[in-house]
Amino acid sequence: MTSQTTVKTLLILGASGDLTGRLLLPGLARLVARDRATGLQLVGAGSDPWTPDQWLERVESAFADANSQADAAGKRELKRISETTSYRELDVTADGQLAALLGQLEAPVAVYFALPPHISQEACAVLTAAELPAGTRLVMEKPFGSSEESARHLNQTLGALVPEDHIHRVDHFLGKATVLNILGLRFANTFLEPVWNRNHIEKVEIIFDEDLALEGRARYYDGAGALRDMIQSHLLQIMALLAMEAPATLDERDLRDAVAVALRASSIKAPYAKNSRRARYTAGTLDGRKVPDYAKEKGVDESRNTETLAEVQVDIDNWRWQGVPFILRSGKALGGTRKEAVVTFRPVPHLPKGFTGVDSPNQLRIGFGPDTLQFDVDVNGPGNVLSLDRATLTAELSASDLLPYGEVLEGVLMGDPLLSVRADTAEDCWRILDPVIKAWNRDSVPLEEYAAGTAGPEGWPA
Ligand code: BG6
Repeated sequence: MTSQTTVKTLLILGASGDLTGRLLLPGLARLVARDRATGLQLVGAGSDPWTPDQWLERVESAFADANSQADAAGKRELKRISETTSYRELDVTADGQLAALLGQLEAPVAVYFALPPHISQEACAVLTAAELPAGTRLVMEKPFGSSEESARHLNQTLGALVPEDHIHRVDHFLGKATVLNILGLRFANTFLEPVWNRNHIEKVEIIFDEDLALEGRARYYDGAGALRDMIQSHLLQIMALLAMEAPATLDERDLRDAVAVALRASSIKAPYAKNSRRARYTAGTLDGRKVPDYAKEKGVDESRNTETLAEVQVDIDNWRWQGVPFILRSGKALGGTRKEAVVTFRPVPHLPKGFTGVDSPNQLRIGFGPDTLQFDVDVNGPGNVLSLDRATLTAELSASDLLPYGEVLEGVLMGDPLLSVRADTAEDCWRILDPVIKAWNRDSVPLEEYAAGTAGPEGWPA
């Protein structure tokens, strides 16, 4: 079945930038190749004076992979987009330029701001509601603001332009299949829900340790760091899906209400030296490759004290989760990649005397790459039947047909904000982290060090 998009034109601002080439266009291509977005016009705009050929080359090379796997209809559609797409040189912050372009496009238009946050903000500030064609959707990349206050201010700017359900705040983790699988796992089964609370769960860890180092992203990353880059957005969203109450439906309103309620109950408490940690990598070796000291990398300002590894303990003060720590951690240039949520259950109230060996707690592990589900249980035998042994039940979950950006774009193009972060949630995610950021700025929490390629600073749990 082919799906005609609600949006007629996708306008990508920042079309000559890295995000567009690496993630947006390949995500779009998969969607189109699978006949899940037909009839769309694609327009790129950027401050670079690109020729039509330069743009076309970018589009075609980003489409190549999906094209090779597309059926005949998908191939036709990708070809049609390549033949009709155009590139405009534009200063989005100049009064009237973006509005004039919007007036020439077939409406409704989705405007994707694939731009540095301050430029997106300036671009929105010069727009007025009257200049926007009917049905316009505004698509904002992360980070959305830099504090609760700035996120609120940006929400007000956007809210004056289009209704909330036409604003898409992108968090591509919401387009990852295993992140969304949390909903099926929790709410389409009966066995978990009765034990999914403080009576049975001891702690929840959400870990996203990457072996990637800076990868030439100093301009963005040195102003962000691990806390803002990963925890403020992606990991809090995962936490909300793990912690929320069951929604009545998977409509955007029910689901996003449930996410918002969980986040509203969440906070990181003082003392911040106990409930948060930060560290920065020094020179080391990753997979046989030499990695320079972060502080000496091109484009890094050492005095900013940007962390490349961050960990926080979030408390969720409600009936279900009171007293259960949610540990969120993410870092770069780490020796082992570990991308998973680990739910650790409480020990049995009484282990019958007579068992030998170690009785370890049950752990449920949801892997975000590779996409897996694992449940660690204790069993006895074989061999000595009274000796406890660890067994792991494992399921390999098949990755989604679409790339995460494809999933997110599908929502934009079909006019469904389900996978977009809602205004109040975007502010709340900053509200949770603002006190930690302030404590770090006051130097109340030491900036530790770890050599690239290791598991992190000594004393941090592996
Ligand atoms: C991005 C962060 O949002 O997510 C990157 O800016 C990070 O620093 C990336 O590497 C991880 O997501 P994925 O989908 O590449 O695993």
